[in-house]
Amino acid sequence: MFRIGIAGCVVLLATSGATAESSIERGGYLVNTIMACGNCHSPRDAEGRTIAERAFSGGGLTFTTPAFIATAPNITPDVETGIGSWSDAEIKRALVQGIRPDHGHLASAPLAAIMPVNFYRALLPDDLDAIVGYLRTVKPIRNEVPDPVYKAPVRRDSYPDAEAGFNKAMFADPVRRGAYLVTIGHCMECHSAWSRGVSDFKTGLGHGGRVFPPHQGSPDGTPDSVAANITSDPTAGIGAWTDQEIARAVTHGMARDGRILKPPMGYAYYAGLKDADLADIIAYLRTVPPLQ
Ligand code: HEC
Ligand code: HEC
Repeated sequence: MFRIGIAGCVVLLATSGATAESSIERGGYLVNTIMACGNCHSPRDAEGRTIAERAFSGGGLTFTTPAFIATAPNITPDVETGIGSWSDAEIKRALVQGIRPDHGHLASAPLAAIMPVNFYRALLPDDLDAIVGYLRTVKPIRNEVPDPVYKAPVRRDSYPDAEAGFNKAMFADPVRRGAYLVTIGHCMECHSAWSRGVSDFKTGLGHGGRVFPPHQGSPDGTPDSVAANITSDPTAGIGAWTDQEIARAVTHGMARDGRILKPPMGYAYYAGLKDADLADIIAYLRTVPPLQ
């Protein structure tokens, strides 16, 4: 009897595993893996680890640049301090155009460039719906974050693949599917040549060199981290790495030489990537022109 019960269970699990991912599941997958929204929007403890019970409630990271001071806001459905009063269309506009709703706090104010809108504009309509659907299911948490201070007009560097756009027909090619994931994961925002606040995606794609200050909660004296060269260059980049070595760096934060990668490389999020998605990301990275 017991044995039959167990077998029945296994069949049930196998069946549910085979059914198509729902839109909300898809949204949760994107938000919590490749898009790593929580890497900026979730608060952290003293050791720099995300506080799961307060996920997406903001206030964890404040970005200070010559153009703005902005704290990642509360994106839970809390009506007063989160985005609970925003319509689906308003959330989508914030994600792909970087403009707040024309009502309420900071009405119509553009979002600082740190919010990766120039990459998110590549999102396919189904994925955008899925993300908004998932954000509605997150636990509402009351948490007010400091207002941003804007000192210069917002400038967003356009990302060629996002400008060109994607459609599902392109995804028959693993390289284009990988390019889509790398775009919405804004990998190249950190990993491209960067100078005085401007990214060079045209001649510096994947070149690395951008310096990040020590993350909040890191022990005193922790040095800055520098984004690596992830072009296909065999010496300066990752061209000579095996697929397994690249996969291990992206999902477990271990470089080829065994060194553990520092923040803000979000490998804890990428650890949840599906094997097929990781394989396509690697297929795309292999095509990034080599740079020394
Ligand atoms: C690199 C850090 C970073 C990442 C990654 C990021 N955000 Fe943001 N986001 C910000 C910052 C900072 C702001 C506030 C900008 C400002 O105040 O001008 C913001 C603003 C927003 C807003 C507007 C909220 C408000 O109250 O004005 C929404 C909605 C939002 N982000 C959703 C998301 C979602 C969903 C994701 C993942 C798909 C995401 N963000 C990924 C940093 C980030
Ligand atoms: C928020 C910035 C940021 C984003 C987004 C980001 N990375 Fe990184 N990444 C870094 C930094 C910084 C390092 C170097 C950390 C160190 O050396 O300790 C790094 C290291 C790496 C390495 C190791 C390379 C080496 O030579 O050690 C790989 C591979 C990598 N990233 C791939 C990716 C991919 C693929 C994505 C997108 C899915 C991505 N990164 C997104 C900042 C980022």
